[in-house]
Amino acid sequence: MTTDGSETMKTLLVVYHTRTGGTQQMVEAAVAQARGLEDGVRIVVQRAQDTQPEDLRAADGYLFAAPENLAALAGAMKEFFDRCYYPVLGQLNGRPYAAMICAGSDGTGAKKQLERIALGWRLVQVLPTPIVCTHAQTAERIAAPKHITDADRARCGEVGATLAVGMAVGSF
Ligand SMILES: Cc1cc2nc3c(=O)[nH]c(=O)nc-3n(C[C@H](O)[C@H](O)[C@H](O)COP(=O)(O)O)c2cc1C
Repeated sequence: MTTDGSETMKTLLVVYHTRTGGTQQMVEAAVAQARGLEDGVRIVVQRAQDTQPEDLRAADGYLFAAPENLAALAGAMKEFFDRCYYPVLGQLNGRPYAAMICAGSDGTGAKKQLERIALGWRLVQVLPTPIVCTHAQTAERIAAPKHITDADRARCGEVGATLAVGMAVGSF
């Protein structure tokens, strides 16, 4: 609490895109752990298409999650970054972030691209980016709903918990 009694709670903004549910489950796992371990951080979860520059400015830290498509960040997530990049450039410097990638077989192209964008914003990466593989490499499996494993949920949970606790205690 500040001296005037207003709250100084930090905000973790989670921005994601999903088409077949894999990334959504990763986000749910991260947010569940973040909320379970840390009630000192307000967590706002938004689809990429709904996220505006003012949402980025209003947050203190970020979790970005998206699939890899065609060896790059999925278009809807890239559109969010394209739309918001210059409006907030220079205004987020030094804030912490983590990312998570959902991929059918690879994921490294999307990871590299997302981390490069975040570097341009001068965000500070506080955790390595996990890539969750859904083993979707045929048209049928690509189109099917995804179910990520308990081990992958746990990995994503660690990302959410570490980010939220670190923000709450002021480590980042
Ligand atoms: C058009 C398209 C292109 C894709 N390209 C790749 C790719 O380059 N590398 C990869 O690992 N997975 C690729 N995938 C697979 C997705 O990353 C995978 O299905 C993932 O689970 C999607 O995440 P979601 O379930 O959150 O939508 C592609 C999927 C689609 C629809």
